[in-house]
Amino acid sequence: MRIVVLVSGTGSNLQAVLDAVAEGKLDVEIAAVGADRPGTQGVQRAADAGYPTFVVNFRDYAVRSEWNAALTEKVASYSPDIVLSSGFMRIVDEHFINTFEGRYLNTHPALLPSFPGAHGVRDALAYGVKVTGCTVHIADAGVDTGPILAQAAVEVLDDDTEESLHERIKVQERRLLIETLARISARGLPAL
Ligand code: GRF
Repeated sequence: MRIVVLVSGTGSNLQAVLDAVAEGKLDVEIAAVGADRPGTQGVQRAADAGYPTFVVNFRDYAVRSEWNAALTEKVASYSPDIVLSSGFMRIVDEHFINTFEGRYLNTHPALLPSFPGAHGVRDALAYGVKVTGCTVHIADAGVDTGPILAQAAVEVLDDDTEESLHERIKVQERRLLIETLARISARGLPAL
């Protein structure tokens, strides 16, 4: 199973996937790792591990749809079975979604459909929920919407900050992501 991973930030979840592959715990082929901006730690991690990398810089395109088309073409050039958004902070359009329909996976640091969007951890904390968590799902054209593949719960502690809570969520997110990829690699994607 060939995977292209998209990142925008530190790529600590990506690192967990790279480590699982290197340790023989996850049987997937990382075809490439790409970002929407230059200089991400995520792309650097992939380059350090010897994987192909690319950047389709959002700021190089005057029109969003042109960026989307360029990203779609670039990702498709690696012929992935799965495209994984691992902390990829850009919304992709229907052209991208249709090209990789049912094969675009996203991880989100909250129990969807609660707290979608860029601040899932902060919003859950601000609301005062006692349990939050993480979700791996097939992404559609909405913001953090689409069929849920796996979830894990994380307790919110009284003295949690956004950072401390996000770190505990990420521990579960990494486990869930690797388990989900292993399941898809062994049994394929669930029929929608
Ligand atoms: C993850 O919690 C992801 O779900 C969220 O951003 C975080 C990515 O962290 N959207 P990293 O880049 O893998 O360190």
